[in-house]
Amino acid sequence: MARIIVISDPHLSPTHGFFWDNWCRTCEAVNRLTPDAVIVSSDLCINGPDSDAEVAFASQALALLRSPVHAIPGNHDVGDEPPGQEAEQIIDAHRLQRWLSVFGADRFAFDAGGWRVLGINAQLLGSGLPQEAEQDAWLDAELGAESQPVLLALHKPLFLQSATEAEVTVTSVNPEPRARLLRRLQAAPVQVVVSGHLHCHRDVVRNDLRHVWAPSTAFILQEPVDAAADNIVGILSVELGDDGASIERIDVPGLVAHDLAELKGHGRYKYLRDMPACPPPAAS
Ligand SMILES: [Fe+2]
Ligand SMILES: [Fe+2]
Repeated sequence: MARIIVISDPHLSPTHGFFWDNWCRTCEAVNRLTPDAVIVSSDLCINGPDSDAEVAFASQALALLRSPVHAIPGNHDVGDEPPGQEAEQIIDAHRLQRWLSVFGADRFAFDAGGWRVLGINAQLLGSGLPQEAEQDAWLDAELGAESQPVLLALHKPLFLQSATEAEVTVTSVNPEPRARLLRRLQAAPVQVVVSGHLHCHRDVVRNDLRHVWAPSTAFILQEPVDAAADNIVGILSVELGDDGASIERIDVPGLVAHDLAELKGHGRYKYLRDMPACPPPAAS
């Protein structure tokens, strides 16, 4: 049996420290649990696509965690896949290289409790960048060799309600790359997909595949994208063993569920990065 903690969407920044206290509380709680590994399912930053300092700050902040950490990037780290939420922050070679130069990799694979745990860069899916094909080949090699159950982590969920959703949307992986990815997953013993991005918690099974949305440790949206989701902050505890996967959301003592709309003055600021600077205490 192995225990993994999933932390998602901490949205850290050296200039905008809205969620720094939550990050410190999260790290304290996770360190007390002494997990075998920690997955950070992206959006470590607020303005990572356009800030060297921010990506470096996020990397340094991970040093507060004492277990082995596996981080993958999200739209606030390397930019969105096209068409994206913001036309000026689409993933490109420069943004990807910034992440790689600091974190060393944008995907991971490790064994835990008789499972294979994989993480991929969701922002490459549908990007058309050469690194998308490289990641596909890597995933094919990983999944093709696999006989043990697999848990896959990525920033964006594959879909909201159904794999047949045709809409191109910023909330999930888009239809074409989703279909390609699902074909790969369905041909392998993949049992669980864990994602972040939506800042709420949901745990459902669709076509024999369990899809778990990890909540953020930073903020909630006024309305979750699915009324059936829990609009709540926290972390996930994932126990992997011969009997399967036991996954539950757990509370972090003292974590504040910041409301994004309220924080941005209900329309006064379009993006958090536009707000007046409010640096956090330095990570130490
Ligand atoms: Fe996020
Ligand atoms: Fe995101």
